[in-house]
Amino acid sequence: MKNTEGTEAAKRAAGEAAAAEVTDGDLVGLGTGSTAAHAIRRLGERVADGLAVEGVATSYQSRALAREVGVPLVPLADVGRVDVAIDGADQVATGANALVKGGGAAHAREKVVDSAADRFLVVADGAKLADPLAHPVPVEVLPDALARVERAVEAAGGAPSLRDAERKDGPVVTDNGNLVLDCDFGTIDDPAALSAELSGVPGVVEHGLFVGLADELFVGGADGDVTRDRL
Ligand code: A5P
Repeated sequence: MKNTEGTEAAKRAAGEAAAAEVTDGDLVGLGTGSTAAHAIRRLGERVADGLAVEGVATSYQSRALAREVGVPLVPLADVGRVDVAIDGADQVATGANALVKGGGAAHAREKVVDSAADRFLVVADGAKLADPLAHPVPVEVLPDALARVERAVEAAGGAPSLRDAERKDGPVVTDNGNLVLDCDFGTIDDPAALSAELSGVPGVVEHGLFVGLADELFVGGADGDVTRDRL
């Protein structure tokens, strides 16, 4: 799993606080990344204690972890709505209710699941807060559309960079078999407009701007405290 800035204690506090919101009978969206992983582990403990829930995974990683900790799974292909989704973010702008996601290249399935949730809970540490957003936006691209999408991103004022794999030569290939462009737009003053523009580019499978989707934000602190905010 990739490493991000916040402390493990902060991530754990946020993830576990969100996992406490899940109730019997819920279908739970299981986000990807190091913060969401704490929520999945806590859910596994609650299932062992008798909580009756099912999960839907957003990635190979979250599926493997859910299996390991005993959260029963339903396939994403069978899911049209979700009761509660718990997912991390690379950057959060609370004023605009906008997130950048996709640091783990899982944002396409994450957006399918998080947008289907009655309640989408974002879990993060304080290092993720920024207003306005200023994080490169991951864009998942059909491999054969790479040149086309690079040109469109440049036309939109961004600098695209093909994400390289670690411990494999060549690019990251997503769980869906596609490539990822990390697109630096500098500060993003109008995330909704940029989101709509990127969504309209042929060859873009999904991008990592999540605008107006989150319902609640759980921010963990290094000493284990959690601040909750409605978005
Ligand atoms: C996965 O592609 C991402 O959207 C993650 O949810 C995001 O990168 C946050 O990950 P961490 O919790 O590991 O920082």
